[in-house]
Amino acid sequence: MKAIRIYEFGGPDVLRYEDIPEPQPGPGEILIRVIAAGVNPIDWKIRSGYMPGLPLPMIMGLDVTGIVEAVGQGETSFQPGDEIFAKVSIGQGGYAEYTVTSSTQAAKKPRSIGFVESAAIPTAGLAAWQSLFDIAGLESGQSVLIHGAAGGVGTFAVQFAKWKGAYVIGTASSKNAEFLKSIGSDEVIDYRNQRFEEIVSNLDVVLDTIGGDTFEKSWKVLKPGGFLVSTVASIPEGMPQKYGVRAKTLMTQADGRELAQIAAIIDEQKIKPIVTTVLPLADAKKAHEMSESRHTRGKIVLRVAEDPR
Ligand SMILES: NC(=O)c1ccc[n+]([C@@H]2O[C@H](COP(=O)([O-])OP(=O)(O)OC[C@H]3O[C@@H](n4cnc5c(N)ncnc54)[C@H](OP(=O)(O)O)[C@@H]3O)[C@@H](O)[C@H]2O)c1
Repeated sequence: MKAIRIYEFGGPDVLRYEDIPEPQPGPGEILIRVIAAGVNPIDWKIRSGYMPGLPLPMIMGLDVTGIVEAVGQGETSFQPGDEIFAKVSIGQGGYAEYTVTSSTQAAKKPRSIGFVESAAIPTAGLAAWQSLFDIAGLESGQSVLIHGAAGGVGTFAVQFAKWKGAYVIGTASSKNAEFLKSIGSDEVIDYRNQRFEEIVSNLDVVLDTIGGDTFEKSWKVLKPGGFLVSTVASIPEGMPQKYGVRAKTLMTQADGRELAQIAAIIDEQKIKPIVTTVLPLADAKKAHEMSESRHTRGKIVLRVAEDPR
């Protein structure tokens, strides 16, 4: 099968498009014929050596959609022919014609959208869902500031928060303002020309997907007891106590039950994945270069095979 692997950590040139043997499903696993693979910043961070010590060579990618080709011993939740989407574990590989994953990391894909759109969901959708609901406990009527609202995580977070009934404020550059309003932002702050910390205050939740200064200035815009969730920054000791708030760094869990919940909301037409770039699997290098620019809107997806329908 064709796959994108790395033999060493480094720049986009270390990505190799090559033929390798198909994997086989073990007990409790499913073998997926991949139709599309989502691209996430964690992919180029891993490629760059952000997690040294990972075994090489390694197939890149974590997010897939496709069709169950075979199931391992004892696996009963899926059957060959099921159309599914999954967040696979590091090294199992999404950028490939076939991959295996534990069935607990997969769910039936949304029926109302295609494979390419579904491949945009797993990591970014779960990150947004777990940050807002599992960690911060966002509720209807509360206010949330989403930093990086136009990105992969942000576009899901804006829509989930609006769906929940929250008041949603997003930060982005001005080119994304109208777009963010169209997907549910009540307000958009242009981070290049405005200081969010001078505009908003007393918020229930901040979701930070940017880090650095953005993270540091977010403490004081929360109300007492508010929640700061960051997908990138670790929480300095003593800071939540200093500001009288709660805080946590997200570690996204590959939760198939939550993927099923997200699929249901998509099929109710409440939210939709935002895919702005689709490239063939062989162009993974270009996909990484685009993602590394840090200014893509929504998601980049690699098409691995033609849609079978
Ligand atoms: N901890 C976890 O489990 C976990 C899970 C998922 C993601 N993450 C991390 O979360 C981060 C975001 O992921 P992602 O997939 O959303 O990334 P992404 O899609 O690459 O984000 C790109 C977006 O960031 C916006 N942006 C860049 N600088 C900004 C700033 N200073 N203020 C506001 N917006 C800014 C850009 O908007 P403009 O073009 O308008 O500037 C662009 O739309 C990544 O570092 C990723 O690795 C962590």
